[in-house]
Amino acid sequence: MARPRVLSGIQPTADSFHLGNYLGAVRQWVTMQETYDAFYCVVDLHAITVPHDPAELRRRSRVAAAQLLAAGLDPERCTVFVQSHVPEHAELAWVLNCLTGMGEAGRMTQFKDKSAKQGESAASVGLFTYPILQAADILLYQADRVPVGADQKQHLELTRDLGQRFNHRFGETFTLPQPHILKEVEKITDLQDPTAKMSKSSSSPQGILDVLEAPGTLRKKVMRAVTDTGTDVLADDDNKPGVTNLLRIQSALTGTPIPELEARYAGQGYGTFKKDVAEAVVEAFSPIRERTEKLLANEAELDRLLAIGAERAGAVARGTMATVRDRIGFLPRA
Ligand code: TRP
Repeated sequence: MARPRVLSGIQPTADSFHLGNYLGAVRQWVTMQETYDAFYCVVDLHAITVPHDPAELRRRSRVAAAQLLAAGLDPERCTVFVQSHVPEHAELAWVLNCLTGMGEAGRMTQFKDKSAKQGESAASVGLFTYPILQAADILLYQADRVPVGADQKQHLELTRDLGQRFNHRFGETFTLPQPHILKEVEKITDLQDPTAKMSKSSSSPQGILDVLEAPGTLRKKVMRAVTDTGTDVLADDDNKPGVTNLLRIQSALTGTPIPELEARYAGQGYGTFKKDVAEAVVEAFSPIRERTEKLLANEAELDRLLAIGAERAGAVARGTMATVRDRIGFLPRA
């Protein structure tokens, strides 16, 4: 039987992925390439929904792709590609735009959050239709599952609604995808403000652990992470959010269950514990950083790998779009 298909996307909006991206998305993607027919996409079309610098976008798209490959995505086992290399994303997005109600799009909470930052009227129409482009990404590949963070649930619901609407109006065309949400994804928080999510847009540099940063800096940030009053290394979201976050990080990176870690550090205070968390982070990130640097040093090779991905993705996308064009009533080109 054919493997179920997954598709996911990540924005090239930073010079490095951070720990939240790594645990919440990238590492999960690497595992899923073994059991799914997996498509992973650097979503540069989404990245221009807010003001951007062209040279920076180009660099960050390569950095994002290189980190995905460096983290273990294998072009022999999955398809890694850049969204803008497959023009069908924008084409299907247009069709779906025309099936989406203004009110429906206006209910997307992420747009409300993101546009509030710039002032609602300064936000682009592209930012408003961002979730519809995301729906196109997913439906184009007939994905069965979409590995994402819990904050993407509403976008997945919209994707299913739009797929279903198209199917009802124009005939069965799209697979309706299920979200694939991991618990720990929701839980990595800012080292300086452990009640807030670790996030590129809202965390301070001291609150974020970047995959590509130097081991010395990573160690410093962990050692300076906000811990809580008391000395016990115990998981307790309400009273010890800082320690709990570090426990989650160490547990996720080393595979050791939290109760086992609690027992290990009983009576030892925070110092030893934090040192070990720092080492776990450095050990996880160093090989990825080194491989990323190697890939970025050979741009031609990186671009060749991305062209292979674009070819495979394009073949699927063209197939879906041919059906969509026909169903929607576009005239075939002679
Ligand atoms: N909106 C997603 C995020 O911020 C990124 C994304 C774009 C995506 N297209 C996608 C995720 C398609 C899954 C599938 O995380």
